[in-house]
Amino acid sequence: MSSSYHFTVIALLFCVFLLGGGSLCRGQLTPTFYNETCPYVSSIVRGVIAEALQCDPRIGASLIRLHFHDCFVDGCDGSILLNNSDTIESEKEAAPNNNSVRGFGVVDDIKTALESACPGIVSCADILAIAAEESVSLAGGPSWKVLLGRRDGTTANRTGANVALPGPFETLDVLKSKFLDVGLNTTDLVALSGAHTFGRAQCVSFRTRLYNFNGTGNPDPTLNSTYLQTLQGICPENGTGIELTNLDLTTPDAFDSCYFSNLQSNKGLLQSDQELFSTSGADTVDIVNYFSAYQYAFFVSFVEAMIKMGNISRVNRNRRTN
Ligand code: HEM
Ligand SMILES: *[C@@H]1O[C@H](CO)[C@@H](O)[C@H](O)[C@H]1NC(C)=O
Ligand SMILES: *[C@@H]1O[C@H](CO)[C@@H](O)[C@H](O)[C@H]1NC(C)=O
Ligand SMILES: *[C@@H]1O[C@H](CO)[C@@H](O)[C@H](O)[C@H]1NC(C)=O
Ligand SMILES: *[C@@H]1O[C@H](CO)[C@@H](O)[C@H](O)[C@H]1NC(C)=O
Ligand SMILES: *[C@@H]1O[C@H](CO)[C@@H](O)[C@H](O)[C@H]1NC(C)=O
Ligand SMILES: *[C@@H]1O[C@H](CO)[C@@H](O)[C@H](O)[C@H]1NC(C)=O
Ligand SMILES: *[C@@H]1O[C@H](CO)[C@@H](O)[C@H](O)[C@H]1NC(C)=O
Ligand SMILES: *[C@@H]1O[C@H](CO)[C@@H](O)[C@H](O)[C@H]1NC(C)=O
Ligand SMILES: *[C@@H]1O[C@H](CO)[C@@H](O)[C@H](O)[C@H]1NC(C)=O
Repeated sequence: MSSSYHFTVIALLFCVFLLGGGSLCRGQLTPTFYNETCPYVSSIVRGVIAEALQCDPRIGASLIRLHFHDCFVDGCDGSILLNNSDTIESEKEAAPNNNSVRGFGVVDDIKTALESACPGIVSCADILAIAAEESVSLAGGPSWKVLLGRRDGTTANRTGANVALPGPFETLDVLKSKFLDVGLNTTDLVALSGAHTFGRAQCVSFRTRLYNFNGTGNPDPTLNSTYLQTLQGICPENGTGIELTNLDLTTPDAFDSCYFSNLQSNKGLLQSDQELFSTSGADTVDIVNYFSAYQYAFFVSFVEAMIKMGNISRVNRNRRTN
């Protein structure tokens, strides 16, 4: 984990002399942060991911998830990358992450490539933000100018990860509230959930829907019966639970709006996915229909929400907007 120490010192001095001054002093992110110091940062990150995708079609999905799980816990500070130590209880081992998040090796490869091109310049938190954007773009989704200049944290918050990260069995109200806690509204929730247009999930993340949903002894009634049979074949009731399946059954590795059309035919994989469409009277239903009908509108909202998510910082946790 490295951040540009000298830059920081200079920035702090600036702030002392120009109190109330420019964006630098308020720690604002900017797309041109590495223009002079590491101008090829984005293409270097893209190159490493493109290479990794050759033998791991899932890696882009895994990388965007790392950025999401980094940002929701005390802001985007790279802390999800920190290992256990005498002073650190890692976020990696928090319940939503342990034996689930992946991609650390590729992040290390990106860091190595960047250290060789521009030593000591690019923060790990920025690497995750750029990797998220490049992964979406490489999978056929939108690209955007990533805001940069995040500083790496030196502490982790496992409790924070357990509390703040949304879970697949939570109700829509709880999901909304966890997003609102980090300044993301209902449109952002639906758009960002669209990231489940690629990647995989383990049976433990949805198996209760297949056999004994919510203690009813029956499958989840909002699960398409054809899809139910497919999933029961993949996830035996008493299997290990680590079996994998695609989050998007129609176009598993492409970034598109099929996630939303799947929800319309009751083929969302996670309970938290299907709830966006199947919760009666919910304001998310219209948004799902809209994103399903207009992929471009989904992309626009997704980019907007990714920029908002990438801007979460420790200080604006609990700041509620909209
Ligand atoms: C709305 C609340 C969300 C919940 C409850 C949720 C939950 C989950 C779960 C349970 C998995 C599967 C984990 C496993 O079985 O190991 C997963 C995978 C994934 N999530 Fe989410 N997620 C949410 C939002 C998001 C957001 C906001 C993003 C990114 C913007 C995202 C991106 C992904 C991706 C890409 C994967 C697949 C990762 C891979 O294949 O390695 N999710 N999510
Ligand atoms: C940063 O680089 C981009 C792309 O080369 C260029 O369009 C932009 O004008 C540069 N901005 C600054 C502030 O140097
Ligand atoms: C965490 O541990 C892994 C495996 O031992 C290692 O490859 C990685 O570099 C470590 N990460 C940090 C941030 O120290
Ligand atoms: C994380 O998973 C590993 C392997 O299953 C397990 O040994 C460890 O106890 C788990 N960590 C926590 C904090 O539960
Ligand atoms: C860790 O996260 C929890 C829950 O979000 C929060 O209340 C707490 O202040 C955080 N701890 C630190 C040291 O940041
Ligand atoms: C969510 O916030 C965005 C701006 O960030 C805004 O365009 C959108 O209308 C808001 N949605 C809701 C439901 O408030
Ligand atoms: C699960 O059951 C509880 C208690 O019976 C009920 O309050 C809750 O709404 C149910 N959840 C779903 C998703 O059906
Ligand atoms: C799975 O385990 C439960 C509890 O032990 C048992 O009641 C059930 O019959 C088992 N299901 C199958 C398909 O073996
Ligand atoms: C279930 O999926 C089939 C296609 O596999 C579709 O024709 C049907 O409308 C879906 N049913 C529901 C209730 O969404
Ligand atoms: C990022 O957050 C800061 C406050 O922390 C705010 O002033 C700024 O407008 C935000 N930028 C974006 C693009 O959301």
